[in-house]
Amino acid sequence: MSASLQIESRPAAFGAAPPAGDMPLRVIAPGRGSDAAEALARAEPLYARVKHVIPPIEWPVFAPDVAAILRLKRARDAVILAHNYQTPEIFHCVADITGDSLALAREAMTVDAKVIVLAGVHFMAETAKLLNPEKTVLIPDLRAGCSLAESITPEDVRLMRARYPDAPVVAYVNTSVAVKAESDICCTSANAKKVIESLGVRRVIMLPDEYLAQNVAKQTKVEVIAWAGHCEVHQRFSGAEVRSLRESHPGVIVLAHPECPPEVLAEADFAGSTADMAAYVGREHPRRVVLMTECSMADNVAVAHPSVEFVRPCNLCPHMKRITLPNIRAALEGMCHEVTIDPALADRARRAVERMLAVR
Ligand code: 13P
Ligand code: SF4
Repeated sequence: MSASLQIESRPAAFGAAPPAGDMPLRVIAPGRGSDAAEALARAEPLYARVKHVIPPIEWPVFAPDVAAILRLKRARDAVILAHNYQTPEIFHCVADITGDSLALAREAMTVDAKVIVLAGVHFMAETAKLLNPEKTVLIPDLRAGCSLAESITPEDVRLMRARYPDAPVVAYVNTSVAVKAESDICCTSANAKKVIESLGVRRVIMLPDEYLAQNVAKQTKVEVIAWAGHCEVHQRFSGAEVRSLRESHPGVIVLAHPECPPEVLAEADFAGSTADMAAYVGREHPRRVVLMTECSMADNVAVAHPSVEFVRPCNLCPHMKRITLPNIRAALEGMCHEVTIDPALADRARRAVERMLAVR
């Protein structure tokens, strides 16, 4: 199957109709007059959380949707899982669970509610559904994909296996269910080294992110065979950019995501997953810091650390940015777009994710 065919199959998987009995639900019109005033009043306490990153003049645009989403979550028995790259009004005002890909996968298993709304990209919603087959998992925009997930097909994985039959396949969670189903175990940027070493083998195939594979290979004796996939956001950072940031912002501490090219990590002070970077800021309280990753991350971490100066080179993930307050609200009102997993793939893909979660 070609990459384009794989893309064509996604809307079918994500576009299922609302389940029978789940009729569209509408609460709180943004409206004018007293409705709007009431919505604003309900959302007002939340503004304190984001006032450092959202100017007061912008808050009235967000407040009605924030208030509506809070009510809809109760009405639908829903929780919102949000990735660290979501914008602050989502991350700090409506999300129930936030984190990196690993945390979202782990936390997805502990959710008590009937409905999970995934404020993130396809592979995150699919992972939540794999781990919660009985729950309704919604993604607010069908177009929220990922360049890494699109860089490899199940056929590619089979070819790699045929070429290196002794090497287990370690798939980054940033892959489709079909690719996970062809893999032995998953990993995230937070646990890749641990996962690889847990296998007790001489060499592994690690896909699809070439840079993550190269960066992990430097930390382990296990031979790593990589696939040439890249994240369109992180591949744009360069070693020269880090050097120039250091020159223009003396004393800046540079934190980099391992999806960046190895030359960026070589220039950085610390490398880690999005959660690892947030933890570094919390632990070390650098006076001035730059996060070589998607730009909303700095806003979200800045909210918790107002005394830290964040230098912000802005590389946006266009897929993550598909998720907005209005489409989260619409997802809860219309119970769309429901994530479904091909039953022929679900058990094998789930096994790869669960094997990863068992690695401590
Ligand atoms: P994390 O697992 O570090 O949150 O990264 C996910 C991702 O998509 C980074 O681009
Ligand atoms: Fe995918 Fe890169 Fe966006 Fe992460 S930042 S979701 S890896 S395209």
